[in-house]
Amino acid sequence: MDPDYYYRGYKKLLKTNFKNEGEIEMANVNFFCNEQIPLEMHKVRIVQKLELPPVERRLKAMNEAGNNTFLLKNRDVFMDMLTDSGVNAMSDRQQAAMLIADDSYAGSETFFRLESKLNEIFGMKYFLPAHQGRACENIISQTLVKPGMIVPMNYHFTTTKSHIVLNGGIVEELVSDAGLEPASTNLFKGNMDIAKLNTLIDKHGPDKIAFVRMEAGTNLIGGQPFSLENLEKVRSICDNYGITLVLDASLLADNLYFIKCREEQYTHASIKEITLKIASLCDIIYFSARKLGCARGGGICTSNTELFEKMRELVPLYEGFLTYGGMSVREMEALTVGLDETMDEDIISQGPQFIAFMVNELVKKGVPVITPPGGLGCHINAMEFLKHIPQDQYPAGALAAAFYIASGVRGMERGTMSEQRNPDGSEVLSNMELLRLAMPRRVYTLSQVKYAVDRMVWLYENRNLIEGLSFTEEPKILRFFFGRLKPVSNWQENLVAKFRKDFGDSL
Ligand SMILES: Cc1ncc(COP(=O)(O)O)c(C=O)c1O
Repeated sequence: MDPDYYYRGYKKLLKTNFKNEGEIEMANVNFFCNEQIPLEMHKVRIVQKLELPPVERRLKAMNEAGNNTFLLKNRDVFMDMLTDSGVNAMSDRQQAAMLIADDSYAGSETFFRLESKLNEIFGMKYFLPAHQGRACENIISQTLVKPGMIVPMNYHFTTTKSHIVLNGGIVEELVSDAGLEPASTNLFKGNMDIAKLNTLIDKHGPDKIAFVRMEAGTNLIGGQPFSLENLEKVRSICDNYGITLVLDASLLADNLYFIKCREEQYTHASIKEITLKIASLCDIIYFSARKLGCARGGGICTSNTELFEKMRELVPLYEGFLTYGGMSVREMEALTVGLDETMDEDIISQGPQFIAFMVNELVKKGVPVITPPGGLGCHINAMEFLKHIPQDQYPAGALAAAFYIASGVRGMERGTMSEQRNPDGSEVLSNMELLRLAMPRRVYTLSQVKYAVDRMVWLYENRNLIEGLSFTEEPKILRFFFGRLKPVSNWQENLVAKFRKDFGDSL
């Protein structure tokens, strides 16, 4: 395969773009020397100093953190690739907007500006603010899920599943088979399997279905998008059975970009048009504004008056008054601008292009990664990387710990550790074991990304030194957040010794 396949793929498709009058066109810059690298369409005007602690300190820090990258202190982290949630770089326009925030408990102008922006991009009548994405999931689940009801979805997200289960619901994942193939050429691995959805509804009857949930840029399978064609099919099934369709739009920006680049029918549509089309197919859209709009907060949009009125009752109870919902007004102003900027291809292309670059470089070196590159981050296939580690010793968690020790880069386990045990105490073995290296938007430079690639290649060459982990403290719910683990042997000391042998006194 062409070693620059994924990156070239974007360029080829982008060339077919054309400019609608008055619309910003995605920059298409070719390099004379034919290098295939993403070009930043922004400049950096505020910077933050980073430290890279020596490998011995990294080993100590990992042990102090109970081998859980969530528990590392940021002062010990060189590149923070844990998440893209609430850590994307804001634009000058977003920062400026924060200064005009109208601070009041009720009826602030800030709220109306945000409401009107959401109305413009989604074309929906109502907006309910919430403090973050999972708060929206709480409100939606409490409103729609009754004990024993089923929520079919392309794939679950951790907090989504917890809220549905807490309300007595059952999650059914119906992602297309390609979605669970780590290495694939399928460009829409986040698609729902339409036949499976039909069968499930027929089997249980539509009354048992609380709602159908589609997740944009499907997080836990590697930031993989769904196609608009697939969403249309899901909508038509929901129409046939009278079922509510809910979109989790937290990772919508990446999905929009992929539809534009990868779905033939929409290469000539603007991001705005694609967004409106998606929204027109959904009954409820909710999002984490820590991701969508590069701010902090969340919200629920709908045009359905009955659903709106039911959900509205819960907002003052759990979030805050209806015109702030737990968000700071400054963040709401930044979000309004961030949503506006999400309609700009130059802005939303940066994440996917950096991720494609990183995936490409790792593929060239034979490191097993999720392909095609998705949004959100670069996902290392730990099941393949660490074939010798059984799933109940958390290969993705072990890889996250090992990679931090080798590089000072913090990633996130997305595998069995991120699951919850069955009621009988047995492990739920995850479909995939991923180390997610999230790409906070516009935060890291290309040389930093190259550093992360370099250390990952080293680790891959030394993968036989890595062994598993076991829990020492295991919370019942969302254990990956603050559970603590230990290595099953002294493999981490051996890894440090090898690092010193190969890198000398290098950090
Ligand atoms: C797809 C998806 N849904 C929901 C959430 C929850 O959002 P928040 O972290 O703002 O609670 C996230 C967060 O990462 C997410 O990726």
